Amino acid sequence: MAKVSIADLDLKGKRVLLRVDFNVPLSERQEVTDDTRIRAALPTIRHALGQGAKLLLISHLGRPKGKVVPALSLAPVAARLSQLLGQPVAVAPDCMGDAVKAAAAALRPGQALMLENCRFHAGDEKNDEAMSRALAELCDVFVNDAFGTAHRAHASTVGVTKFVPLSAAGFLMAKELEYLGRAVADPARPFVAVLGGAKVSDKIGVLKHLVTKVDALLVGGGMAYTFLKAQGMDVGASLLEADKLDVAREILDRARATGVTFLLPMDHVIAEKAEATAPTRTADSTAIPAGWMGLDIGPKAREAFATVIRGARTLVWNGPMGVFELPPFREGTFAVARAIAISGATSIVGGGDSVAAVTQAGVADKMSHISTGGGASLEFLEGIDLPGVAALTDKK
Ligand code: 3PG
Repeated sequence: MAKVSIADLDLKGKRVLLRVDFNVPLSERQEVTDDTRIRAALPTIRHALGQGAKLLLISHLGRPKGKVVPALSLAPVAARLSQLLGQPVAVAPDCMGDAVKAAAAALRPGQALMLENCRFHAGDEKNDEAMSRALAELCDVFVNDAFGTAHRAHASTVGVTKFVPLSAAGFLMAKELEYLGRAVADPARPFVAVLGGAKVSDKIGVLKHLVTKVDALLVGGGMAYTFLKAQGMDVGASLLEADKLDVAREILDRARATGVTFLLPMDHVIAEKAEATAPTRTADSTAIPAGWMGLDIGPKAREAFATVIRGARTLVWNGPMGVFELPPFREGTFAVARAIAISGATSIVGGGDSVAAVTQAGVADKMSHISTGGGASLEFLEGIDLPGVAALTDKK
C-alpha cells in the first residue's frame, strides 16, 4: 500500500485518534444487532492498545444531521466493544472540546475511550476546518480504519488529516484496499462481476467501469429489467427505469465491442405483487405477461450464472438477484451465494444486501473477503479515489 500503515508506527504512550466505522444497526432496546464492523476493527484496536497507545475511538452512527440525538449515542457500541475486548471502554460526553481533552489526558497507555457520535456536530459532514483542528488537537497520530466511510470527505475522515503530523491506515482499511485493489488492478482471470439490486441508476458508474475490467458481467435483480427492455423485450410490470434505457444500451454496446460476456437472466420467478403470499410462476424473458413482474432470476438463469461463476478465478458480487427478503424470491440470490462459495475463486462481497444474503445462505465463511463498506466499495469499484484514503500520509 502506498500509504503509511499503523504497523509502521511506534505508538507507545502516544495519543492515537482512531477513526472507525461503527455505524452499526441498533435494536429498539439500544442493543447492537450486528457487530461485524466492530469485530472487523478489533485487530487495529488490539494492536494499538498492545503497543501502549492511549486510544481515542471516533465514529459516526446514523445520520443525526448535526444535532444531538440520544438514540444515536455510541454508548451501546462502546459496551459491545468493551465485551469483545475484555476491558472497559468508557464513552466521552462529546467528540471534542475541553471535557474530552481532559478525559483523553487521563487515559493511561493501553486504555481506550469511545468519543461520542461525531455527526452530532454539523461540522463533520461539512469537513469544517474548526472541527478538524479540534479533533487534531486530541492526538499525536491519526489512524483511519473506517473503510466504510472512506468515500466521505468529512472532518473526521479527511479534514483532521491536515492538522496532525501523521495519518496512517489501520489494518481493516489496508485489507479492504488490498482485496478490492487487487481485484480491479491485477485480477486472476477470468474475472467475473455479479451485480444486482433494484436500480440501474445506483450502479451506472460501477457498471461502466467494470465493463472495461472484467471478462464477464452477470446482471440480476430489478436492474436487469431495464437492460432486457433495452434489448427490446417486454418486461411486463417489472421494475423499469425508462430514463436509463440509453445508458443501458451504451453499456451493452461497450460489452459487445470489448468481447465481455454480458449475461442477463433468461428466465424469472414472476408474480403480480412483490408479496410473500403472492402466487408465483416461472417465465422466460421473452414471455413475461402484462401485469406480472420479475422478482427473482429463474432456474435457467441460476444455472447459467452458476456455470460462469464456477469458471471464475476472481469474483466481485454486489447486489441481490431478486427480492430475497421475501422467501419465494430468494432462491436466485442464494444460488449465486452458493455458487460463489464453491467456486474456489477469490471472492469479494460488498453491499449490505449481498452480505446479508451470504450470511443467510450459510456461506459467509466461504467468501475470501466480505467488505465492511457498501457505498465505499461501490465507489472504489467505480474507479473513484476514496477521499479518506487519499488524505492519509504517503509512504516514503
Ligand atoms: C455506511 O454505513 O455505508 C457508512 O457508515 C457511511 O454512512 P453514510 O452513508 O451515512 O455516510
